[in-house]
Amino acid sequence: MKLITIAIDGHSSCGKSTMAKDLAKEIGYIYIDTGAMYRAVTLFALHHGLITDDGINEQALRKLLPDIMITFQLNEQTGRPDTYLNGVCIEKEIRTMEVSKHVSPVAALGFVREAMVDLQRLMGEAKGVIMDGRDIGTVVFPDAELKVFVTASADVRAQRRYDELTAKGEKCTFDEILANVLERDRIDSTRAIGPLRQAEDAIVLDNSNMTIPEQKAWLLEQYHRAAAE
Ligand code: DC
Repeated sequence: MKLITIAIDGHSSCGKSTMAKDLAKEIGYIYIDTGAMYRAVTLFALHHGLITDDGINEQALRKLLPDIMITFQLNEQTGRPDTYLNGVCIEKEIRTMEVSKHVSPVAALGFVREAMVDLQRLMGEAKGVIMDGRDIGTVVFPDAELKVFVTASADVRAQRRYDELTAKGEKCTFDEILANVLERDRIDSTRAIGPLRQAEDAIVLDNSNMTIPEQKAWLLEQYHRAAAE
């Protein structure tokens, strides 16, 4: 079967990465979590005191951006890739509410998007990749052979994120998470550059009432169809 590019876009916390990671493992493709890349930049900015109550110090972040090296390494235990920032594994730190609260404004900055999109194109140039994000099918790989746009109701997405964070022992409330999900939807879909939108040729999947195995089977079927064309 031919190697293809698979673009999975959609709203935050709708299970895109779970689906994408599972498919990558099953078909031996490389999985790239582009949200993790924007989260890594956000963590870097937080560590350097570039995000305060007054906003983001864009000038300083732009200057320091070339110092940020983002890579992925397969975690033998989980069978999934972990995110590294300048050689340090940051997989846990980038999933906190602190990073979730600040990531959308960072991801809306043009110079940050430009750098990340360049890196994503480089990572995916050999095909055989599954990339998940917001603008993969529209901006990063508009020629991807398979484009999926995933969505679910905001309540369902907030509940999933709440369950995930509380299972990890993080203290948070459902209402706080719902507000964050809605706010990220708003910023992600209204920003000027690379806004979250469905590509015209994307297949829409509303997984509000689907189990993970059902989504997995659905995506595998889409892959077989697209790779056989
Ligand atoms: O998928 P996620 O929740 O980890 O993404 C974190 C944030 O990064 C999200 O609020 C939007 C942004 N993002 C983006 O702007 N473009 C992408 N390709 C992926 C994520």
